[in-house]
Amino acid sequence: MRIVFVGPPGSGKGTQAKVLCERFSIPQVSTGDMLRAAKAEGRLPAEIVQAMASGGLVPDLVVIKLIDQRTAQADAKAGFLLDGFPRTVPQAEALGTMLGANALRLDAVIALDVPEELLIERAIHRRTDKRTGQIYHLQYKPPPPDADLEHRHDDHEDVVRKRLATYLAMTADLLPYYEKAGLLTRVNGVGEVSEVTDRCLAALNLVVNRGGSHG
Ligand code: AP5
Repeated sequence: MRIVFVGPPGSGKGTQAKVLCERFSIPQVSTGDMLRAAKAEGRLPAEIVQAMASGGLVPDLVVIKLIDQRTAQADAKAGFLLDGFPRTVPQAEALGTMLGANALRLDAVIALDVPEELLIERAIHRRTDKRTGQIYHLQYKPPPPDADLEHRHDDHEDVVRKRLATYLAMTADLLPYYEKAGLLTRVNGVGEVSEVTDRCLAALNLVVNRGGSHG
């Protein structure tokens, strides 16, 4: 399975990616996580840190290189789930070229749909356990008392709204690109986490059943 998750900030990409990756035994490849790890290790140039902090996008070439290197690793040979990449048509084209060079293709692109006010509420109350990477929500999925919690710098309301505006501007072209390629399935991201997982699995089953799994 080679799957792409597209969705606005707080739509549940990371939450669903963890469940599906465990189910399919494939790695979750999140450009956001990779960029945050690079920042924590002091490896991220100041202008990229600034772009992330202000709710903007990191340059295409930077994230394309990250994905090229990560998907070449041994654990990604049998498949992967891309969480938050691609976000622009140039990124999608670069991904197509990378896969094509190895005679591979994407199986599915899942776009999670969640209304704006719910997205804001999900993002600003999100907390992540620094040790395990587990994602919590102060109300919907309260963390255990021993969790080592982190509140992302870009999860304050003003930045979340900017990230949302950036997402809408960039995906205006990306979603039609994948729709035209016959890869896009829109999934309702509202409801219990397990309900959303079931909808994603149903979408992926359709792909498998119609013989759309490649390589
Ligand atoms: P990234 O880390 O990818 O952020 P994002 O896309 O904005 O997505 P989020 O991580 O905010 O949300 P999510 O959809 O994963 O939701 P989650 O599952 O955590 O990117 C960060 C930044 O890096 C970008 O702004 C950009 O600067 C840069 N970047 C990254 N990729 C890039 C690229 N390709 N190109 C250029 N720049 C790039 O859930 C959110 C909350 O909701 C949690 O608290 C969770 O518990 C809760 N929740 C989830 N599902 C449910 C549910 N069904 N019901 C109730 N609560 C739920």
